[in-house]
Amino acid sequence: MSELVTVILAAGKGTRMKSKLPKVLHKAGGKPMLQQVLDAAKAAGATRHIVVTGFGGELVRERMGQQAGVEYVTQAQQLGTGHAVLQAEPQMQGHAGTVMVLCGDTPLLTGDLLKKLYDEHKAAKAEATVLTAIMPDATGYGRIIRAADGSVEKIVEHKDATEAEREVREVNSGIYCFEAKSLFESLHQVGNDNAQGEYYLPDVLEILKKQGKKIWAVAADDYESTLGINSRQQLAGAEQILRRRKNEELMAEGVTLMDPATTHVDSDVQVGRDTVIYPHTWLEGSTVIGEDCEIGPSVRFQNVTCGNCVVGQFCYAHDCRIDDGVALGQFNHIRPDSHLSEGVKMGNFVEVKNSSVGKGSKLPHLSYIGDCDMGSGVNMGCGTITVNYDGKTKFRTIIGNDAFVGCNSNLVAPVTVEDGAYIGAGSTITKTVPAHTLAIGRARQKNIEGWVDKREK
Ligand code: UD1
Ligand code: MG
Repeated sequence: MSELVTVILAAGKGTRMKSKLPKVLHKAGGKPMLQQVLDAAKAAGATRHIVVTGFGGELVRERMGQQAGVEYVTQAQQLGTGHAVLQAEPQMQGHAGTVMVLCGDTPLLTGDLLKKLYDEHKAAKAEATVLTAIMPDATGYGRIIRAADGSVEKIVEHKDATEAEREVREVNSGIYCFEAKSLFESLHQVGNDNAQGEYYLPDVLEILKKQGKKIWAVAADDYESTLGINSRQQLAGAEQILRRRKNEELMAEGVTLMDPATTHVDSDVQVGRDTVIYPHTWLEGSTVIGEDCEIGPSVRFQNVTCGNCVVGQFCYAHDCRIDDGVALGQFNHIRPDSHLSEGVKMGNFVEVKNSSVGKGSKLPHLSYIGDCDMGSGVNMGCGTITVNYDGKTKFRTIIGNDAFVGCNSNLVAPVTVEDGAYIGAGSTITKTVPAHTLAIGRARQKNIEGWVDKREK
């Protein structure tokens, strides 16, 4: 396949969203709508993408970050979709092949659908091919007007359409394939004498048709994939469709969902076979879950890399790594840059931040572990905490292998507890505890005989 280039229109404000954020940055399925479109284009085999930005352009570039094959051009004034595509003309000098034009506000597109559009455009040897859909409610869309022989005559925008034209339910999805040379030649001939005073991209079809060039249309099997998002209501609808699709994909691959209606899994999340997901669970961002895990009920994982056979309920973990066989407890909060190694056992109400916990270590109840490097086989008694902050600076706590920290101890960082050391319950530890040594850092108990009787007299 010769190089397929896409032009993605993303300069509009999205007035109907009533938002400070450019429309294409609103998320669906856990990532910006523009990213959903880009990912579908990449899946279809396109390798170069020219994104047209305008309103909030700087923010769009910043949030999208550097991505291979993605370039940006600016449309300073939003004069219409035809004018937007023209901004990509300098970038397209020397590209003789096909250009696919996409809109950044259609997050339900799939790579398969775009590939079908491209393949049929090529097979038909057309100069322009439009992707159409039959909408239950076509309000707002451009209508496909066909000639008596069934060929596409032109596209009429809703605001410019006659009563009879508005009856048509076949709409322009806003997605097309064009031969680059024809596209840019005809774009220069598009005028703005219409209801919105804009340069309409769809007018190119009528111009090419009049030149006797071949215009083709491909109908999407389901209209859902082509839905354009213009309001928050439509965004919520798209979210629901993406969620349903993802849940079905997971179940087809061997994941059990106890209650799909309350299971929210972002588009890019991966879950291994025979993992069971319980209700009210959110798996977000770049989260990867291994096989044979039991996740939920009520778990939220954001960007978590999780091994096999992990169990957890009622907890929140983000930007962290959880290895094979870890058992999370109730109400755990695992914060960024934490790593729980194989077989770690967590109990109730434990928070871990920017710390590594070695193989098989146990944090059974009510602990705060922050900025700590903990070895393997460690037992942290109930209520034990690392005192990592002096109000200005954070310090680290180092705990060796097989150390035993008694209940309700404070480890005042920077401090080291060496391999196999023991710490008496209720200790406040401020200096190194050497290996295989017992440290007790608390006031000695004093019993005063007869004190109670004396007081009562
Ligand atoms: C457009 C089509 C319509 C189609 C519908 C499908 C035109 C004139 N109409 O209408 O036929 O049925 O999409 O969803 O093309 N944009 C720019 N610069 C501009 C104007 C728009 O970059 O000057 C971008 C927007 O950010 C958006 C896309 O183009 O991503 C479509 O614009 P929008 O205003 O949503 O067009 P529709 O009215 O939906
Ligand atoms: Mg739109």
